[in-house]
Amino acid sequence: MKRRTPKRDPVFNDLAFAGRYAKKHLKMARNFGEEYARKLRTRGFQKGRVLDSGCGFGETLIYLAKTFPEAEFAGVDLSEPLLELAMSSAAKANVSGRVEFKKADVHSLPYPENHFTTVLNINMLHLVTDPVKMLNELERVLRDDGHLFIADIRRSWIGFLEPEFKSAFTVAEARAILDKSAIRKGMLNAGFLWWRFETQKNPLKQGV
Ligand SMILES: C[S@@+](CC[C@H](N)C(=O)[O-])C[C@H]1O[C@@H](n2cnc3c(N)ncnc32)[C@H](O)[C@@H]1O
Repeated sequence: MKRRTPKRDPVFNDLAFAGRYAKKHLKMARNFGEEYARKLRTRGFQKGRVLDSGCGFGETLIYLAKTFPEAEFAGVDLSEPLLELAMSSAAKANVSGRVEFKKADVHSLPYPENHFTTVLNINMLHLVTDPVKMLNELERVLRDDGHLFIADIRRSWIGFLEPEFKSAFTVAEARAILDKSAIRKGMLNAGFLWWRFETQKNPLKQGV
């Protein structure tokens, strides 16, 4: 199946669409929070700075903030309606003091090098205008011993049922993009609907 370029604006600025997106994907975002909390726990993570690049309505980050009370969290997105939702959810969950949501472009992150212990990037690669540039930014802001988790939907026959999947990359295309970027070594696993990329448990032992 040929890749179709995304029909909608990659930035979810339309208020009605953003609201529908948040409602439809709430459970998914919490599931990612649960999954990454589990993975971070097995890596011994307790404190540090976590970035969700393209955080949408913030639910994944809020889940992690509730799970790791000693850590700090930053979420960036360009969608004002989604960022507002994220801020209001963080206030309701009583985590606003440790979670900062900011309007920023994932192609040019407003953070210094080696700043984050953990970087997340979920459902973004197929949407952004320059995926390699985004990946290079993730690598730049992540500490050498940091944890990196990337996940995106994959293009397959499912696109005949769910058009969104037609604009996704195949696993081979995603791998080629990762290889073209400066992103560190990691493992890419292909699931039925999604692929996931993550660094090893002890990042400083990579390539050993
Ligand atoms: C499919 S949603 C994924 C949101 C979130 N990661 C999740 O899993 O629910 C894609 C998000 O990327 C944001 N976005 C698209 N291009 C962006 C860019 N260049 N910089 C920051 N955010 C961007 C959109 O506004 C939207 O919130």
